[in-house]
Amino acid sequence: MNNSSNNSNERKRVIVTSALPYANGEIHLGHVASTYLPADIMTRYLRLKGYEAYHVCASDDFGTPILIKAEQEGKSPEEYVKHWHDRDEQDFRAFGISFDIFHSTSSKENVEFVQRFFLSLYSKGYIYEREVVQYYCPYDKKFLPDRYVIGRCPYCNADNQYSDSCENCGRVPEQILEPKCAICKREPVKRASIHYFFRLSAFADRLKEWLNTNGNLQQDVKNYVLRWIEQGLQDWDITRDITWGVRIPIDGEGKVLYGWFDNHLCYISTALLLARMNGLVDDDNDNAREFWNSSIIYHFIGKDIVYHHYLFLPAMRLGDGNYKLPDYIPTRGHLMLQGQKISKSRNWYISLREFINAFNPDYLRFYLALITPYSQEDLNFDWDEFASRVNTELIDNIGNFINRALNLAKRYGVSTIPTQYDDGDRESINAIKHIAQDVGSLIERNEIDKGLRRIVAFASYFNQYFQNKEPWAKVKSQSKDDKASAHNCIYISVNAVASLAVLLEPYIPFSAERIWEQLKMQGSIHEQRWDDASRLMVREGHIVGDVKPLFKKISREEIEAQKSRLGKHIA
Ligand code: MF3
Ligand code: ZN
Repeated sequence: MNNSSNNSNERKRVIVTSALPYANGEIHLGHVASTYLPADIMTRYLRLKGYEAYHVCASDDFGTPILIKAEQEGKSPEEYVKHWHDRDEQDFRAFGISFDIFHSTSSKENVEFVQRFFLSLYSKGYIYEREVVQYYCPYDKKFLPDRYVIGRCPYCNADNQYSDSCENCGRVPEQILEPKCAICKREPVKRASIHYFFRLSAFADRLKEWLNTNGNLQQDVKNYVLRWIEQGLQDWDITRDITWGVRIPIDGEGKVLYGWFDNHLCYISTALLLARMNGLVDDDNDNAREFWNSSIIYHFIGKDIVYHHYLFLPAMRLGDGNYKLPDYIPTRGHLMLQGQKISKSRNWYISLREFINAFNPDYLRFYLALITPYSQEDLNFDWDEFASRVNTELIDNIGNFINRALNLAKRYGVSTIPTQYDDGDRESINAIKHIAQDVGSLIERNEIDKGLRRIVAFASYFNQYFQNKEPWAKVKSQSKDDKASAHNCIYISVNAVASLAVLLEPYIPFSAERIWEQLKMQGSIHEQRWDDASRLMVREGHIVGDVKPLFKKISREEIEAQKSRLGKHIA
């Protein structure tokens, strides 16, 4: 982050958002890999670094698919989304995602904010009315949004397809054949209705300018967004003729705003709510705007929603003119599962809850963080690779070093004779001196995977140092020099363990806390300072706590059992 080098004493504020999950199903590995985990690692890092950093999220409650599902389950949409909102929040917590707030797009705060925003754009001429012809069911007396019309795909002839996309061939039909109302299965008619349009076309130049001047955005994403702009931006229909959504404030009759109009505004409304709850702003609007505008803003997303975040979102903010555009939009690729696309209908997915019921959540955080690059490239979850990387890199390497060092520190105490340091000792102290800056600068560049690999390399280095020095043998030797060498090694190693606890906090927060406890250091690991990872934090004479193995290896059987569940329908 380019702002981190300024040396003013004022604490910089950072607002990190993760794309809002639709409140219509459980969180699975695909969601967390691209978005929630990288965002959480970044926020935790920034907090340790001394920033006033907030992780803001909410459930995405509105929209036709959610309304349809609620109807199918015989629930009110409010009841339906509440269920998933609460469930998702629990799963995120259990996975260590440290949201400062998890609100919802259907909240009063968001709805009011969105309506004000609509009126602001409308008064400035960025929203206008236009007549559109749409399907209407005369029996249900309803306009039928895309998902409410089913029919035969004109390309592949598959029956029972939604009018806005064919699941069989993946195409978007211009005109579905034999259209039927999804509610009563009878034939709809076409009818004109007034819709509201957002004048996206008016923002082409300003969007280009923003993309070309914001140096923090990923170049490859910028390139294709710029191409879309070159191809011409269409104004955007922001109206849906359903009842589940944000009421259009200047129209009484059964119209609501499209979910993609209101959902990203929830980033702002939720951040402002958090600020009010923490007493950081009062109800005054200037004050709230200032809170947003003086923050560094990150929006973490998956690559499927680039269009919305690089065009709609900035254009709407530009049109309103009150809230600054994002500084960073870290965009990552999709997660594949055993080399295949995730699909809920084929049961080819792993729910987050299932996963953390079976394994330590830190194992998943560790593995996903290692394999998720800062790019649009798709990544692959592989059960065998999961087991082998956790078993070797986390457990054999990191866990083993920590356990051996702590055991000796417990048995023989923490003492040192600096005048007798040898080259190995000096070199390892030097490694500690560099590590915070090395890993930190990778995380700041969003290279979260590389940051973790750097930590793994640090642990390997210390394993070797420890192995070469054989402190467990020398500490019992009669020779004074051997004894001194052993104590120096234990002292330096136990300090490396403390450094590892801090460095690992963003990645594997549950285990980092346990390391800190075993070290018997003061306070919580979550409140330490990142830069202290490069200091020798454990003093001479320190007494460590109870030492226990941190991890348990993943067995072949566990992995085979998981593999055989994939793709099967579980009743
Ligand atoms: N719910 C949307 C999805 O899962 C993402 C919403 S992100 C926000 O694709 F910008 F709208 F908030
Ligand atoms: Zn009907």
